[in-house]
Amino acid sequence: MIVGNEKLNIIGFAGSLRKASYNKFLLNACLELLPEEMNIEIFDLDGIPPFNQDFESDPPERVKVFKEKIRLSDGVLVATPEYNYSIPGVLKNAIDWASRPYGDNVFFGKPAAIIGASIGMLGTARAQYHLRQVFVCLNVYVLNQPEVMVPLAEKKFDKNGRLVDDSTRERLKDLLSTFSEWVSKFKV
Ligand SMILES: Cc1cc2nc3c(=O)[nH]c(=O)nc-3n(C[C@H](O)[C@H](O)[C@H](O)COP(=O)(O)O)c2cc1C
Repeated sequence: MIVGNEKLNIIGFAGSLRKASYNKFLLNACLELLPEEMNIEIFDLDGIPPFNQDFESDPPERVKVFKEKIRLSDGVLVATPEYNYSIPGVLKNAIDWASRPYGDNVFFGKPAAIIGASIGMLGTARAQYHLRQVFVCLNVYVLNQPEVMVPLAEKKFDKNGRLVDDSTRERLKDLLSTFSEWVSKFKV
């Protein structure tokens, strides 16, 4: 859905620092499949240091940039790996920075969508539900359905990291178009 002539500006980030991360590849696939009214800017979590509450009111520069991009966005798209049945520390750490100090949680009231790819059979299902729980705390409105959980990721991307599995591409496209409608509802 298009609101006026304005595009919906989404910040996307993956919870992996790995160069050949399947979750980064999944976000890249979103750039190919997004609806015309949506822009996605991908932010790399590389360079975000471990959270230290002593600095939450004047965080490191990379954190300031991350927070500002979220603040200015119309919505958030997260591609999470699954680490030990949960979200990676790198992702939780970045979210913790962006949620602080108290009263300056930049996620507050934002619409979001969660996707994820893993080499396991459940395709990040457990991590995605943990992330949903974290987002309840931050008052983030996560799109419920469709869910995109990509199992056996090594079979879904080619050697250049392009998503080549047709049914996953369809599902991702479907999620992005539903997410566009979801985000539009929050845009004033
Ligand atoms: C510390 C660690 C824990 C992992 N735990 C899980 C897990 O619980 N479930 C799962 O499906 N894959 C697990 N994996 C495998 C990941 O799915 C795989 O490393 C995947 O490629 C990570 O995402 P990325 O490609 O975006 O970096 C784990 C990997 C690591 C490094």
